[in-house]
Amino acid sequence: MAMSDLLFANHLSFARLLWGQLLKLGDLAIDATCGNGHDTLALSKLVLTPVAGKVIGCDIQQTALENTRERLKEQLLPHQLKRIELHLISHAAITSIIGDESPRLVVFNLGYLPGGDKSLTTRLETTLEALRHLLPLVQKGGAISLTCYRGHPEGEREERALLEFAKRDLPSHWIPSHHRWPRQERSPSLLFLQCAGGSL
Ligand SMILES: C[S@@+](CC[C@H](N)C(=O)[O-])C[C@H]1O[C@@H](n2cnc3c(N)ncnc32)[C@H](O)[C@@H]1O
Repeated sequence: MAMSDLLFANHLSFARLLWGQLLKLGDLAIDATCGNGHDTLALSKLVLTPVAGKVIGCDIQQTALENTRERLKEQLLPHQLKRIELHLISHAAITSIIGDESPRLVVFNLGYLPGGDKSLTTRLETTLEALRHLLPLVQKGGAISLTCYRGHPEGEREERALLEFAKRDLPSHWIPSHHRWPRQERSPSLLFLQCAGGSL
């Protein structure tokens, strides 16, 4: 059997399988780390119609936003492009770019821009700050998806601390789960946080 026949074959296809189960056309989805735009595109295809749905993306690198914009222009229709906003901003300041609507899904693909400057990686402190801002905003039944890369030192620190946060600090109406690949010690993992209700 070919890998392409599997339900999911890596951390990205697993994450996208969950996003596809969760999102409906018309939802608001947020990409908190646009990078090269693969995830922004996947989210756009799941939520945008000619008249509804919205995708908000951010990144701290102009190059990342340009790469994302280019990918979206190649793959989407003008009416879909109109429903996407990209911001050159840190996700730590994410509340400044979300309006009144509650997101159904927020996606973090942590680490650095593939093919870019590895020192411009996501950092634990800003990732946690963004999470704290987002927890009260995500709608009931919604989720936050975090792909963690422990193959580099900051990524390892980030994954360990995020798991501690999920175990000890996440409000009780949030349900954390963590998926990893037992045969690949350094492979990326997926931390998926689901919101089961309003604030207690
Ligand atoms: C692994 S890449 C994301 C991959 C991307 N989602 C894709 O589909 O191509 C991580 C991105 O996070 C960005 N980043 C790092 N710190 C950030 C922050 N504080 N806020 C927003 N983006 C950040 C980096 O610039 C980089 O582009």
